[in-house]
Amino acid sequence: MRIGTTLTNFIIQNQRDIQGASGTFTGLLNDIAVACKRIADLVNKGDLVNVLGSADSENVQGEQQKKLDVISNELMIEALRHNGHVAALASEEMDSICRFTDDVSRARYLLLCDPLDGSSNIDVNVSVGTIFSVLRVPEGAEEITEEDFLRPGAEQVAAGYCLYGPSTMLVLTTGNGVSMFTLNRDFGEFLLTKSNVTIAADTCEFAINMSNHRHWKEPVRRYIEECLQGGEGPCGKDFNMRWVASMVAEVHRILTRGGIFMYPGDHKLESNGKAGKLRLMYEANPMAMLIEQAGGGAITGEQRMLDVEPTELHQRVPVILGSRNEVERIGRYHQQ
Ligand code: AHG
Ligand code: MN
Ligand code: MN
Repeated sequence: MRIGTTLTNFIIQNQRDIQGASGTFTGLLNDIAVACKRIADLVNKGDLVNVLGSADSENVQGEQQKKLDVISNELMIEALRHNGHVAALASEEMDSICRFTDDVSRARYLLLCDPLDGSSNIDVNVSVGTIFSVLRVPEGAEEITEEDFLRPGAEQVAAGYCLYGPSTMLVLTTGNGVSMFTLNRDFGEFLLTKSNVTIAADTCEFAINMSNHRHWKEPVRRYIEECLQGGEGPCGKDFNMRWVASMVAEVHRILTRGGIFMYPGDHKLESNGKAGKLRLMYEANPMAMLIEQAGGGAITGEQRMLDVEPTELHQRVPVILGSRNEVERIGRYHQQ
């Protein structure tokens, strides 16, 4: 019986279409897949292997770390450190970058990741995920510095996530559409289950944390108000609402059946010196690349996400993404 296309087969075939790609790229994506399989295994076993609960530590952003945040970060490092594909790694869970090698002639990629997204959901057995973004080592770089990572999302060569849900799925773009792979646990391979994923341009489903309503700015207030008016309002249709609080799960839903996701900037975040809640480099940018590759839109409000010039590794940004016509509508409200 044929098992279908494995992730490895897919990447090798795909690599032939990527300009300048060598076997390194296949190796890198394989390493990411290995880390994701190991994280999936722990997420799946949960309390049986004592990985739930808090780690009694804080990350660079002052957020309480969960045990699985720390472990997932270690598993990413372990999977990537010694294979020579990645020159350096940046992660939500590490203050500064982690250099893996000085031989940047061989290690041609930089990796950014959110090792475990949606960590507030770990202990309640709701979907979480890993997000990753791949950049090329800049021409002529000798020793990798943080500066080398600070490039707009449009320069990503690949991006994706692994969703640890009822099934474990790896979703990937290398700039040539979006493909979904499902983990077959019997023989430990990700198998291609959906290709050329496209997001419907229209939707009747929005996702936003409504508890922040009083802090929102006018364009977001207006948009959500119009959605809530349903068929009697300017949208002329009833809307449904979802909020999982795992961005990976929200983006996966949108890639699957359309929708709009927002974590906008607001007055409260701004009074704490934050432009948004989500991080540009390893949350917003990889998701924006996936969404655009599937025909959707991703903006900060004023600007296309992938054009934002980063200034800091852990910089936060307002995020609005999903079905194109809705994203454009919210974009217009920001211009007005
Ligand atoms: P992380 O667990 O990596 O810190 O990210 C959590 C993010 C994101 O996944 C989700 O969309 C959002 O935070 C949820 O925020 P609220 O708890 O404010 O709803
Ligand atoms: Mn996250
Ligand atoms: Mn995280």
